[in-house]
Amino acid sequence: MARIIGGITTSHVPAIGGAIAKGLQNDPYWKPFFDGFIPIRHWLSETRPDVVVVLYNDHGLNFFLDKMPTFAVGAAPQYTNADEGWGIPTVPPFTGDTELSWHLIESLVADEFDLTTCQEMTVDHAFTLPMALLWPDQAWPVKVVPVCINTVQAPLPSAKRCHRLGEAIGRAVSRWAGDEKVLVLGTGGLSHQLDGERAGFINKDFDLKFMDSMVSDPTWATQFDTYQLVEQAGTQGVELLMWLATRGALGPSVRALHSNYHIPISNTASGLMLLEPV
Ligand code: DHB
Ligand code: FE
Repeated sequence: MARIIGGITTSHVPAIGGAIAKGLQNDPYWKPFFDGFIPIRHWLSETRPDVVVVLYNDHGLNFFLDKMPTFAVGAAPQYTNADEGWGIPTVPPFTGDTELSWHLIESLVADEFDLTTCQEMTVDHAFTLPMALLWPDQAWPVKVVPVCINTVQAPLPSAKRCHRLGEAIGRAVSRWAGDEKVLVLGTGGLSHQLDGERAGFINKDFDLKFMDSMVSDPTWATQFDTYQLVEQAGTQGVELLMWLATRGALGPSVRALHSNYHIPISNTASGLMLLEPV
């Protein structure tokens, strides 16, 4: 039986790609951020997941404002990265686990999540850079299943709905007959706002409370509607929905094996957690 061996939640910021390209991992600005991933890579080399379900939001590479699915699941044999205009190098393609993709899709639709299915799909920085932080050689020893949650164009799915999507992903994996070790990787947040009067907004108190709730009170953030989340975490801070979905997939209780919080990376409060179901 397939099983979820852990969840990793991390911020994603295009500038990380520039720092990787320039080899700035030990630069004083970047070191507190990159060092956060060292224990994660140790854990990965011990646990060796076979497949990664990546929960992220596309920022206009694969979906644009003309067609914006609330939830979309990739079912492609391969996913390529492409230039988004940030000036960062693209990464090698990822191999899709199409069988697990279709199983997830069938299970989620049976669970009344009405999805967009993507048999061709490009993946943006929110997918590629967290993967490059986990596997810096970019040789990708895992297959992938991308799951997109819209946090770009209103209306967004609620926090409660995203947590439930994660729970449904957890159920789907536990019903999969394969013997894969599955990692769930959720990328986005934490607090940041890239535009408007509050551009640069960061809310450390909220972020730390939210990170704590991922272990101690996993539905805490589902009390907030989208506007309250924007107020607390910023217009792009709503990307924390990916963390909630990841947490939902991990089951009722988890232990945190590692966490890191560092302000700022570019305009973003960067958070990182490694959670193990117990
Ligand atoms: C930044 C953060 C993001 O989440 C993103 O998608 C793009 C840019 C930033 O802080 O620069
Ligand atoms: Fe983003």
